Amino acid sequence: KVVAVLLGGLSAEREVSLKTGEAVYEALKSKGYNAVKVDVDRQVVEKLKKINPDVAFIALHGKFGEDGTVQGVLEMLGIPYTGSGVLASAVAMNKIATKKILCFEKIPTPPFMVVDSIMREKLDEKTLQKQIISKINLPLVIKAPSQGSTIGVYFVKKEEELLPSLKEAFRFDEEILIERFIEGTEVTASVLGNKDLIALPLIEIVSHTGVYDYEAKYTPGLSEHIIPARIPPETDLAVKNLALKTYRTIGCRGLARVDFIIDRQGKPYVLEVNTIPGMTATSLFPDAARAAGIEFPDLIHKLVELALE
Ligand code: DAL
Ligand code: MG
Repeated sequence: KVVAVLLGGLSAEREVSLKTGEAVYEALKSKGYNAVKVDVDRQVVEKLKKINPDVAFIALHGKFGEDGTVQGVLEMLGIPYTGSGVLASAVAMNKIATKKILCFEKIPTPPFMVVDSIMREKLDEKTLQKQIISKINLPLVIKAPSQGSTIGVYFVKKEEELLPSLKEAFRFDEEILIERFIEGTEVTASVLGNKDLIALPLIEIVSHTGVYDYEAKYTPGLSEHIIPARIPPETDLAVKNLALKTYRTIGCRGLARVDFIIDRQGKPYVLEVNTIPGMTATSLFPDAARAAGIEFPDLIHKLVELALE
């Protein structure tokens, strides 16, 4: 089968995508596929028409790759593709949209508010700062909703850090998410499947830099994946069930990684959903699969099969 590996792309996560794409390409070749790399730019339609693939493996992260746009192009061209469809991709790529849906389904997620550009224009800075702090309390996290790999995320511990961080976040998006910072254990749940879902072993994330940010994510040695996560069995089960419920609620397909924080009392909260989790050397999803006995090339093969189901 001819598989077009879509990689690179136009988002801030381009470098991560190139690594994911390279790993996927090698795995596909080792499984006997006729894999062709396609660096995604505005010529993507012409490139795909020339290759005429049986299936597209989307190894893109962030805008234009993970957010439903390239999925829409592939739908129009009639090319099956790995992972979630247009709607689930678009929802999961936006942390505000995701949280609103989670709340409707009563899936726990940290308390939050949204600051849009209208509020920002209407209120003077001091009033805005006061409103945010009285509603969410310190410490809090400011997130540009449609980025990945912790790009556009700012942790705010002191009042005076709030407005500068908010300003930074507005460089990425028109609406900004303000979320309560919950102290606790960070774990991630990798889910695989279309209808029959498998929750892979949970991974606990320990960052040696204090925060699990872009640098800690992609620099070998700066963070650790602990498998299985060091949490009680009942919490492990609760997290997996919440991950499956979240996956179904958002309407994911193929695979997704649901990130959690478990507070000191043992209560898990969903932070976000990643419909195209990283597949780099330091990435989480491949580690979870390996812990379940699925080697990387077999995982990639499975994702192609799920795309064609
Ligand atoms: N957004 C990065 C690639 C991840 O979720 O792994
Ligand atoms: Mg993400």
